[in-house]
Amino acid sequence: MSALSKIPNDLKSKWDAAAVKYEKKRAAMLPILRLAQEHFGYITPDVEFAVAEYLETTPVHVREVVTFYELFRTKLEGKNQIRFCQTLSCVLGGSEELLEYIKTKLGIESGETTKDGKFTLHTAECLGACEMAPMMQVNKDFHGPLTKEKIDEIFENM
Ligand code: FES
Repeated sequence: MSALSKIPNDLKSKWDAAAVKYEKKRAAMLPILRLAQEHFGYITPDVEFAVAEYLETTPVHVREVVTFYELFRTKLEGKNQIRFCQTLSCVLGGSEELLEYIKTKLGIESGETTKDGKFTLHTAECLGACEMAPMMQVNKDFHGPLTKEKIDEIFENM
């Protein structure tokens, strides 16, 4: 059985709609992977094989793209992705203490996911929002300047 045959039809239809916008099918790699991640939550080796088959390229090529872009996940992560900045402006604003606060509050270390699957914590280099220091990104939103109270409020509203 081919890897592509295991991809659900609704996802394949989305891939077709994305691929048709590109002169060469292979150029649709990023949107195809993004759609796969939206569907499955992360990119498994089986999905990489299916994408390779669909785009008529090699699994190695797909793997290179998946591992190059931070946006792609290769394991199941939390519903909410926290990227906590730990670069200079944020450190000067007290980010180290706040990071410890988050780790204790969620009961996880950086790179881990809470047991209920709600949050995954990642530390990050400067996110380009130093004026908000200390800050973090939760999914698409930037939050800062952070305090313990603001962190509580952000998490309670998720
Ligand atoms: S140092 Fe934290 S956003 Fe720039």
